[in-house]
Amino acid sequence: MKKQSIRFHGTAPSPQCLGDAVLQGLTRRPRRISPKFFYDEEGSRLFDAICDLPEYYPTRTEMGILQACAMELSGLIGKDATLIELGSGASRKIRLLLEALRPRHYAGLDISQAFLHDSVSRLARDYPWLETHAVCADFSEEFDLPIFAESERRVLFFPGSTIGNFEPHDALTLLQRLRRVAQPNGGLLIGVDLKKDPRILHDAYNDSQGITAAFNRNLLKRILRELGATLNVDGFQHRAFYNGGPGRIEIHLVSRGRQDIHVLGRRFSFERGDSIHTENSYKYSIEQFHALARAAGFHPRRVWTDSADLFSVHYLSSVPSKPHARIISRL
Ligand code: AVI
Repeated sequence: MKKQSIRFHGTAPSPQCLGDAVLQGLTRRPRRISPKFFYDEEGSRLFDAICDLPEYYPTRTEMGILQACAMELSGLIGKDATLIELGSGASRKIRLLLEALRPRHYAGLDISQAFLHDSVSRLARDYPWLETHAVCADFSEEFDLPIFAESERRVLFFPGSTIGNFEPHDALTLLQRLRRVAQPNGGLLIGVDLKKDPRILHDAYNDSQGITAAFNRNLLKRILRELGATLNVDGFQHRAFYNGGPGRIEIHLVSRGRQDIHVLGRRFSFERGDSIHTENSYKYSIEQFHALARAAGFHPRRVWTDSADLFSVHYLSSVPSKPHARIISRL
């Protein structure tokens, strides 16, 4: 049997990054901290728990779509590609793809180093035929990817509608970057959450077990733990709502009363109702997303949706192709 193969690249962003983001984010108005700081080990664990919640439809819906389109995908992508997963850790989805696509190389890319090493090590153990790489990097900024093979064909996998957590102009910049990483002969398989009845969205981000609230408040716990701040985590409550104008879920931490927090020698004062905006989750129509993908230099090849039109999975190619009569499939 072939020996398992795993290589590690990159290192976790330093606490300095969190410190700078917190100081800047609490000084500006409206107060704002990037959602990428949700994902320390505890945040990644809580996000995993969110994915299993009955109200949080994206994970199971995307999984169902991937299961249904796996054969078709393997026809589109072919064997022996280099499969690069952005935000590695969506273990069930990647396992399905590894089995359907049989790539030669797999690279998981994530900002959370411990979580990344753990998930890629498990893949290396379970798929000894695969050459695996764990790349600790922040893909919201420029990142370098080692060359994994001579003349490789790179297919990027960006599931879970994480693209929705980027502001539209940042989403465009990110897709342009991914288009460069995919090179002229590659592609991008991406999950995108769709616009829908706001009540479904409201429930998905206000779950009855309070896991999403704990995920949001974990950001304050990180500030407490990693930056030695003085603050009362219970002094802030989770708030999530759909803002129909820009078409996004907004997530905030709202101060329950007048309070001060002390971070890295600075004091920040809050009145009751003052908020820290911690996340946006944009929802797209298929046409809106296609326009964004084209603007980034990708060519939409196929899109699959579930029967209730909750979620979409797109295959975008770097290579222009003849126009197809039918590129949208509702499964
Ligand atoms: C990772 N991302 C796509 C999730 C979302 O739905 O925007 C993050 C999340 N925040 C609260 N629940 C889930």
